[in-house]
Amino acid sequence: MQAKVNGTKIYYTEGGNPAATSVVFIHGFPFSSAIWKDQLKMLDRDFHHVAYDFRGLGSSDLGDGQYTLEGHVDDLIAMLDYLEIDQAIVVGLSMGGYIALRALERNPERFLGVVLCDTQSKADDNAAKIKRAVGAKAVKQDGAAAFAAGFVGAVFTKASIQNDVAAVGLIKDLISANNPLAIAGNLIAMAGRTDTTESLRNISIPTLILVGEEDALTTPDTARVMHEQIKGSELHVVPKAAHMSNLENPEFFNARLLEFLKKV
Ligand code: MLT
Repeated sequence: MQAKVNGTKIYYTEGGNPAATSVVFIHGFPFSSAIWKDQLKMLDRDFHHVAYDFRGLGSSDLGDGQYTLEGHVDDLIAMLDYLEIDQAIVVGLSMGGYIALRALERNPERFLGVVLCDTQSKADDNAAKIKRAVGAKAVKQDGAAAFAAGFVGAVFTKASIQNDVAAVGLIKDLISANNPLAIAGNLIAMAGRTDTTESLRNISIPTLILVGEEDALTTPDTARVMHEQIKGSELHVVPKAAHMSNLENPEFFNARLLEFLKKV
């Protein structure tokens, strides 16, 4: 399905029980909502679920290829309005978590709970900003498939890479299908994002934090810092998983997610 929000067509899926609590899923960079297939199926009976491709990625429109985190938050809020969802539980993985954390600063009244997966509140330091710039240049020169080949090594466990598990192929395919301009535009958006650490202590809704034990991008230590600052938050380290914890260990991830959603 497609929604026209803020001048751009945003692709989304919607399912489950329309009368139940809404759970909105935001994927990481540079994937699409297809990463949430297992989680959505699990929520069919007891929840209303929405997963969308954020601007530029998956089946959503490229727009002008220039993005900001603020613009992604505008789109999230506009999607809630379009779908007539007053309040939702938001689940964000990595860049999806950056969007969720900033949305919580801007529009806390729209959220009932938050699930932060393999993400962080810190903004990019200088080294990270430079790495984004190098990545943006490279993806425009070499294309999305080359970017995907380099990216998977950083987000999966060695075991998943060696065994070439299906999730590795899925992520390679999702990245390769994206427009290099959208990948570059979203790298620049992440480089320019604000730091949301100061406001973690203001989060007063139920919060679940999940992180892969081998996540080298947004590490368990980073997750622990968020956990210490968000009052009453719950933290689980996902065994046998790196950055793509929902794909590498769906059994553990889904069990913790469902327990949490039922409590909110
Ligand atoms: C993601 O998975 O969304 C990105 O790897 C996050 C990042 O690069 O900061």
